[in-house]
Amino acid sequence: MNKNVRKAVIAGNWKMNKTRPEAKELIEAIKPLAENAGCEVVVCVPFTNLETAVNAVKGTNIHVGAQNCHFEKSGAFTGEISADMLVELGVEYVILGHSERRQYFGETDETVNKRLKAALAAGLKPIVCVGELLWERECGITEEVLGKQCKLDFFGISPEDMRKTVIAYEPVWAIGTGRTATADQAQEACKYIRDVIASIFGADVAEAVTVQYGGSMNAKNAAELLSKVDVDGGLIGGASLKAPDFGEIIKAASV
Ligand code: PGA
Repeated sequence: MNKNVRKAVIAGNWKMNKTRPEAKELIEAIKPLAENAGCEVVVCVPFTNLETAVNAVKGTNIHVGAQNCHFEKSGAFTGEISADMLVELGVEYVILGHSERRQYFGETDETVNKRLKAALAAGLKPIVCVGELLWERECGITEEVLGKQCKLDFFGISPEDMRKTVIAYEPVWAIGTGRTATADQAQEACKYIRDVIASIFGADVAEAVTVQYGGSMNAKNAAELLSKVDVDGGLIGGASLKAPDFGEIIKAASV
């Protein structure tokens, strides 16, 4: 990453894992490992763990995120959580448009865009996930897919809000599969995303925006992925559930 203009963001995506006592234990184990981090450290925990996590990170440099939020402020949306509800709890970040949400829960670029606007209006820092399917990569349309997602997901966002938005490039074929994109593939895609942002919001915004890589990032491959100039951190699933591994990734992002 370009350290002169951006700070790496290392975010753990715990997905549907950990009860409250387990969450507290994991955060306690992460605390000393994050203490001298030269990057932003975030844990995105299940809704039920948010309050526990917010209390557990008090006085530390760890930030708490949720894994989704609804686009309306309130109303008849059974099972949903609004951005304001997250802010009131002390939550700072929210993951939006994760491929598992798109794949299993019918989320579309249109609803991701609406959620993004709601999250930004509430003062949350969104982490918006984009990425191609294996089939799309094999057909040679990775750039088209990323371009389309960025144009739709970030439609109507102000340049100031775009600066506050973290983008996570997550090739769907690399998520939870143990099959990581090569550092060159990650760099190529993150650079392309930055170019798309430049074409919409201008070069200044594109230089300032954080573009993470996500998909089987772990203690072993993090340093190489993070050495790439356009890879500004990581969104980490499996490896974020093991404190020593997450600690190694924080270390790799801090050099
Ligand atoms: P993974 O998940 O690190 O387990 O591949 C990444 C993610 O889904 O954000």
